[in-house]
Amino acid sequence: MKIVGNLRTFAFIPQFFDIKNLEERKIEVKEGDTLNVGKHTLQFVMAPMVHWPEVMCTYEQSEKILFTADGFGKFGALDTEEDWTCEARRYYFNIVGKYGVQVQALLKKVSTLDVRMICPLHGPILKENLGFYINKYDIWSSYKPEDDGVFIAYSSIHGHTKEAAFKMKDILKEKGAKKIAISDLARDDMAEAIEDAFRYDKIVLASSSYNMGLFPAMEQFLHHLQGKNYQNRKIGIIENGTWAPSAGKCMKEIISQMKDIDLCDTTVTIMSKMNNGNIDNMKKLADELLKN
Ligand SMILES: Cc1cc2nc3c(=O)[nH]c(=O)nc-3n(C[C@H](O)[C@H](O)[C@H](O)COP(=O)(O)O)c2cc1C
Repeated sequence: MKIVGNLRTFAFIPQFFDIKNLEERKIEVKEGDTLNVGKHTLQFVMAPMVHWPEVMCTYEQSEKILFTADGFGKFGALDTEEDWTCEARRYYFNIVGKYGVQVQALLKKVSTLDVRMICPLHGPILKENLGFYINKYDIWSSYKPEDDGVFIAYSSIHGHTKEAAFKMKDILKEKGAKKIAISDLARDDMAEAIEDAFRYDKIVLASSSYNMGLFPAMEQFLHHLQGKNYQNRKIGIIENGTWAPSAGKCMKEIISQMKDIDLCDTTVTIMSKMNNGNIDNMKKLADELLKN
């Protein structure tokens, strides 16, 4: 048996496996190389950092199949009944998300190939309507929002910020927001919250203050987003504190390190429990968010 890989593959294999006579058995390939294995000719397309350094795709020329490694994959290869987009999006942003530039470079190369079938490493084989999947990857990897809508991400110790987050949801609905998703960052699935943050063009961050800082669930969420190059979104802030609210300042500090963020002028500051003044401000924030 021969092992086909690139320079980086053969650097990594001995770190994982003890393969006898690897030197004699290896076939090292690079960008554009082809390998004829009888009926099939394999063409190699390097895809470094999508999402590991050694990643490469293989294009089978006679049947026009692209083996895409981690690209176009999703959590759950056998759940073919399940909608592809949701789980593929969650996979993309949580695993590959940081490497949008590298995914764009791969898409450019793929556009020169006549692809009839996509076979990811983990995920269903894609045979029809390939333009749909490639378009999703183009949107995701260029950090463009996918849907016109608002994602409300909240973290609340005693429940008052939660109450405000749901009030904000009602206000946004009344004011005609197209889609609204909401997540409790301390209880709901963090990977799904990250997915929704990237999916929509607007986000509301609502958090209680915590030891002169930010409640950890929100802090962790924002660091995840930052690590995945979160950018190009409109953000509204709701903070809550009893004696010296600090959550807003902390959220803004992390956001200020992100690219192309349109931060709403209105910050809603709740002192413990939402009052009528806060509701008026939340309406103002909703108007700002929904304004084009
Ligand atoms: C451990 C702990 C630390 C807190 N630190 C602060 C703080 O630094 N500044 C502040 O104004 N409130 C602080 N608070 C109070 C809450 O932020 C405040 O009561 C807020 O209204 C809680 O909102 P919630 O009901 O959504 O949890 C703290 C509360 C706890 C339990």
